Amino acid sequence: MNALQKDLKKLAALAEAAPQPPDPWRLRFHLMPPVGWLNDPNGLCQFGGEYHVFYQYAPFEAEGGIKFWGHYKSRDLLRWEQCPVMLYSDQPYDIHGVYSGSALVQEDGLYLYYTGNVKHAGEYDYIRAGRGHNTVVAYSPDGVTLGWKRLLMENRDYPEGLSCHVRDPKVWEQDGRYYMVQGARTLDDEGVVLVFESDDRLHWRHLNTLRTPEPFGYMWECPDLFALDGHWFLLVSPQGAPGKGAGFENVYACGYFPLDGDFRDRSARLGEFVPLDYGTDFYAPQTFTADGRRLLIGWQGMPDAPYCNPTTARGWQHCLTVPREVRYDKGKLLQRPARELEQLREGAQEYRFDGESTVPLGETAEILLTGECLREVGLGGLTLRHENGRLTMDFPIGGYGRTVRSAPVGKLEKLQILMDTSAVEVFANDGEAVMSARWYPEGERCLTLSGKGTAAVYGMRALEIVRS
Ligand code: FRU
Repeated sequence: MNALQKDLKKLAALAEAAPQPPDPWRLRFHLMPPVGWLNDPNGLCQFGGEYHVFYQYAPFEAEGGIKFWGHYKSRDLLRWEQCPVMLYSDQPYDIHGVYSGSALVQEDGLYLYYTGNVKHAGEYDYIRAGRGHNTVVAYSPDGVTLGWKRLLMENRDYPEGLSCHVRDPKVWEQDGRYYMVQGARTLDDEGVVLVFESDDRLHWRHLNTLRTPEPFGYMWECPDLFALDGHWFLLVSPQGAPGKGAGFENVYACGYFPLDGDFRDRSARLGEFVPLDYGTDFYAPQTFTADGRRLLIGWQGMPDAPYCNPTTARGWQHCLTVPREVRYDKGKLLQRPARELEQLREGAQEYRFDGESTVPLGETAEILLTGECLREVGLGGLTLRHENGRLTMDFPIGGYGRTVRSAPVGKLEKLQILMDTSAVEVFANDGEAVMSARWYPEGERCLTLSGKGTAAVYGMRALEIVRS
């Protein structure tokens, strides 16, 4: 451990131990930072019988700062252990941030691939010059303590024609080899994904570059490439995407391209981009496999958004989505909350509604609605409305600058709503469309329903979180 890491460790522990003011917006069943800022989920995996969730973490500043990798782990996605920070920016090659990346589970331990961010002092634009985006691997024998870190690639090792922005390695093992995808911005401001190959996890060779026939934004962040039921998908968070309307109403988009062909071949083609989530707060998701399913966790936030989160005044900001199971259905990806979350339900109440009804709510709830006609649902400051095949989400109270978002749903037959103290995730028609948002209601809450159908309303117990 070098002297910088030693000091950062001490400081992070101090920040986390500082007393926190009472705060009704602290989340109950969404993972949030112990203190300070959180963004992308990183290194998601199941290792030694435990789920590991790392995340972009700046404990000293709720508005963001130098990023580390924070860490939670759990056996069942319900009882979590808040572990010590896993990765600090303590080396010349990652001194301005241990940026996003992924985990490779091997027999001898966990290999964590990430981007070491370096900003050189000087008059630079930090896009074409002045920035180092280094590919680094960190090894942990037990998933909790750091063994070593090693610099694998620098900007000069990447293919030609790229800006300095090359980041967020996602690594996996396949056919006896290792593969890695990284997001990149070309010198012509085109978002692309670089594919690398390795025989030994340490030496990487550029194999292919995935791009759309026409440029689709200037930078693609946080790529993830995987197959479900034999169909391949490339998840990306594109910046500057040209789309309009539903799925493109946020400052940056987030979704997937179906991939036709083998990702290793130049002939592989990306199909049409599909948004993954239509709400105001969803970005940089990552998937992993566990117990025969593909789980996804996203950042329930949005970089550079014109709206804000009042929790910054209480020393923290942002959260992760609940774990979601991703399934393949007729060319599309469907998402639903991981089944473990059902164990948090308590106190079921069932209602039939016809016309207008009001039902009292606690601070957290899971609401399952089915019906012949679901016109409008209110959650206290947040409204969902179904009209002309679209589901809209609006924030008449407590949106802190958030405005209407819409999702194409066709006929609305089912809604599953996970409502936390200041976060909501809405799954329409068994996860065909999802909308995630943060909002900050005050006072008593109630559920208002307009239309005709049935409602099952549960309270949601909090996750158990212990500090190690
Ligand atoms: C996405 C992102 C990544 C980067 C990380 C830095 O939100 O910009 O591309 O690695 O956040 O925190």
